[in-house]
This record gives sequence, C-alpha cells and structure tokens, in this order.
Amino acid sequence: MLVRKFKPTDLKRVYEIENMSFNQSYGIKMFQQLYEMGVGFLVAEEDGYVIGYVLFWIKYENYGHIISIAVDKNYRRLKAGTKLLLRAISVLSLLNLDTIYLEVNENNTGAVEFYKTFNFKIDRVVPGYYEDGAGAILMYLHLNAGKIAR
Ligand SMILES: CC(C)(COP(=O)(O)OP(=O)(O)OC[C@H]1O[C@@H](n2cnc3c(N)ncnc32)[C@H](O)[C@@H]1OP(=O)(O)O)[C@@H](O)C(=O)NCCC(=O)NCCS
Repeated sequence: MLVRKFKPTDLKRVYEIENMSFNQSYGIKMFQQLYEMGVGFLVAEEDGYVIGYVLFWIKYENYGHIISIAVDKNYRRLKAGTKLLLRAISVLSLLNLDTIYLEVNENNTGAVEFYKTFNFKIDRVVPGYYEDGAGAILMYLHLNAGKIAR
C-alpha cells in the first residue's frame, strides 16, 4: 500500500469513495476546488488502485484540520486509514502546529474509535452540525514539539 499526493486523474475515484462513505457529499467540484486551493490531499493506492484519501489544511494560525478521510468499503480495517492519517499528521507536525482537530458525526462510532487509536480526544459536541440534524463531535490531538503525542 502506497500513500502519495493526489493527482487530478484520481478525482472520479475519490468522489466514488466519498459517495460510498458519507450521506452528505462535498461533490466533485469541491474536491477540484480544494485541490486547486492547495490543501493537503493524499491518496492511498493498492496495486495502482486508489482505495482511500485524506484532505487536510491549516485553519487559523496554529491549528491543523482534517477536512475529510475515507477508505473504500472493500478495503477497510487494513490500515489504509491509519497510513493516510499518520502521513497527514506528519505533514502538519512539520509546520509546528499546536493542535489538529476534526469533526465527526456523533453517530459515526467507528470513526471515533479510529481517531482514538491516534490519541485524539473528544472536546465537545456541536448540536445540529450536519444537514440531517446530527451533531458533530469535535476531536483534537495535541502535537508535542512537532511530534505526535500518542
Ligand atoms: C474511518 C475510516 C477512514 C477508517 O479507515 P480504515 O482503513 O478502515 O481504518 P484502519 O484499518 O486504519 O483502522 C485502525 C484502527 O482504528 C479502529 N477502527 C477503525 N474502524 C473502526 C470501526 N468501524 N469500528 C471500531 N474501530 C475501528 C480499530 O482500532 C482499527 O484497528 P483494528 O482493525 O486492528 O482493530 C473508514 O472506516 C471510513 O472510510 N469510514 C467512512 C468514512 C468516515 O467515517 N470517515 C471519517 C469521518 S470524520
């Protein structure tokens, strides 16, 4: 399994993975725009086939933000998500950020467990954050002098 930078030719495949992973979609144009804006955009590839992606950026001065991460349903629990998130955290760590944060749907217990394996902690719940009325759990990870605080 290889983690590499996103290329525009991955766009359709990334969108396909997003669609099978979330009820609410950013849409293919938003992925294109995020890429053009220069956000962190990595994909995981297995034998040349894209099986997952992660998008991340710096929001505010000292905060890294995981915008989205997903792995193809048929390739989950094989550590692709771990490799993608570890790489995103490494990149953000190099930028001397204090904290990485993210939002996760309060009903998405699998993702919360996934983030806990990286030592992400729950901050609070934002009620009604998603279109379907579900709340978002805000999670954060403190970075310790550029190292992952695991
Ligand atoms: C969350 C997601 C990206 C994880 O990717 P993955 O490649 O399956 O995760 P990994 O194989 O790296 O999992 C690492 C560990 O996280 C935990 N974990 C991952 N998925 C889990 C789940 N559904 N339930 C409980 N624990 C889970 C486990 O401890 C797992 O280790 P194990 O398989 O040895 O038990 C993937 O499930 C996904 O795409 N979900 C849909 C989209 C989504 O919810 N994204 C996050 C939104 S904020």
